[in-house]
Amino acid sequence: MGKVYVFDHPLIQHKLTYIRRTDTGTKQFRELVEEVAMLMAYEATRDLPLEDTTIQTPVASTQTKILAGKKLGIVPILRAGLGMVDGILNLIPSAKVGHIGLYRDPETLQPVEYYTKLPTDLEERDLITVDPMLATGGSAVAAITVMKQRGAKNIKLMCLIAAPEGIEAVQQAHPDVDIYVAAVDECLNDHGYITPGLGDAGDRLYGTK
Ligand code: URA
Repeated sequence: MGKVYVFDHPLIQHKLTYIRRTDTGTKQFRELVEEVAMLMAYEATRDLPLEDTTIQTPVASTQTKILAGKKLGIVPILRAGLGMVDGILNLIPSAKVGHIGLYRDPETLQPVEYYTKLPTDLEERDLITVDPMLATGGSAVAAITVMKQRGAKNIKLMCLIAAPEGIEAVQQAHPDVDIYVAAVDECLNDHGYITPGLGDAGDRLYGTK
């Protein structure tokens, strides 16, 4: 079963409070989502392998550590996942960025893939799938399935806020995927919104309604 990591770092929790507030405007919302994504990426990359290297400082030669060169990828689920990408790229600028677009079929209510563009060497990369809201889990489950069908082996899911329903859906469908979140909220309401949540993440990021 995949693990769930809830980041209780004070900076993440403080910023999340402002992200949630109704009176936080689009500009501040977008900046805060980017900042929290960066802080979360810092925590979610703790397991990156290091290797020894020898360098020369102005004072002496010394053995120290650098990243072992593990290839990374970020895969936002369109559209709200885009809001988390730049924050992660601030920390790991060499990561490749793939995109997965899904919409919900109004009749079946199932996610339908309408756009996918992923790095070709997917199987070699450690991948972080990002979507601010893990609600029913339908989109995340479908996106991870698409990635696996194209060869992905090592996938993490990073969201700002999760509902227990979404966590369970991902754990059932993809028990190999660890989930990283800033908060687990109470439930979904009748309209499928995470409660208390933050509203529609895509609309709040892009100023639409
Ligand atoms: N997607 C959102 O943007 N918000 C929710 O609360 C649920 C799904």
